[in-house]
Amino acid sequence: MISGVLDRYKHLLPVTSDTPIFTLGEGDTPLVKSRSISEKVECDNLYFKVEGCNPTGSFKDRGMVVAVAKAIEKGMTNIACASTGNTSASAAAYGAYCGLNTTLIVPKGKVARGKLNQAVAYGARIALINGNFDQALSLTRDLCDKHSIELVNSLNPNRIEGQKTAAFEIIDDLGMAPHELYIPVGNAGNITAYWKGFNEAYENRMSINKPIMRGVQAVGSDPIVIDQIIENPETIASAIRIGNPASWKSALRSRDESGGSIQSVSDSEILDAYELLASSEGLFCEPASAASVAGLLRRFQDGERFHDKIIVCVLTGNGLKDPDIADNINPISIEEYDAELESLEGALSIS
Ligand code: F0G
Repeated sequence: MISGVLDRYKHLLPVTSDTPIFTLGEGDTPLVKSRSISEKVECDNLYFKVEGCNPTGSFKDRGMVVAVAKAIEKGMTNIACASTGNTSASAAAYGAYCGLNTTLIVPKGKVARGKLNQAVAYGARIALINGNFDQALSLTRDLCDKHSIELVNSLNPNRIEGQKTAAFEIIDDLGMAPHELYIPVGNAGNITAYWKGFNEAYENRMSINKPIMRGVQAVGSDPIVIDQIIENPETIASAIRIGNPASWKSALRSRDESGGSIQSVSDSEILDAYELLASSEGLFCEPASAASVAGLLRRFQDGERFHDKIIVCVLTGNGLKDPDIADNINPISIEEYDAELESLEGALSIS
């Protein structure tokens, strides 16, 4: 009764007879059909891959389970990562399950509250550094090079292997690859992983086609779009606040080989998409995740049409991770009433 990414996809992953097989329930996430945004962009076949349904609330769990299993196979007892929050929550959870020492190096004051709470609860060692994610990653690489610690950032190829399974699931659900895949881009591991997955599926005849990849960054943290490292990246979408993506080159390959694009969207477009997803689709994702939908809305506004296309937007993480953003979105909709029926009926205009 094991299942999960390692068990379900072992034939397509670097799993050997020595690889421990375990799961926290990652993968097999829903592909939800859009009812409302599909009308806005005039696309009958728009879907959301809801990766916030993974055990720690983000897509990172797919790759982390493989990276941690391979670390254990090698005899490692220490793992570490730098993170904007989700990778650290995931590493901490799998580290806890497997009894490993987990060290997290995160930029101080720049990680969403829910993600830090998770890491604390899972019992990881957390180092807050005075710097940004790119500096944290560089430090973590040095630390892992120097000591016997497994780096579990997406530079670790096992992370990419695990994350590519999301592409297999989408193909399973649709019976083919979508025509276009919209995906937020931060450190650029995930776009790399999806493109690898779609290619392997095509080569293995699991799919008759491959999608156009549409990567989306946030204005202010869009080094790939402006083709320049950003020393002090800024955006409300803290998960993708990255100025020098580690997988920059492979993101460009995914873009170019698929005939796709990497574009940027503003913070206000991200927040509009974030609110729209929650209020019109019932999908509460984190701001970085909404960037994928903001990218689609922008292309529609710019005149692109999607009538006969099958489109998937990846919603990478759960909205509960970033309660401070949610707090500031719509404070007007909460009011207090006396605890008696008549006042409630009057206040709510129900008779
Ligand atoms: N969406 C969310 C919610 C993320 O947490 C991340 C990355 C991305 C999108 C972008 O994915 O980096 O593979 O291009 N979060 C990393 C972290 C950087 O540390 O949690 P990417």
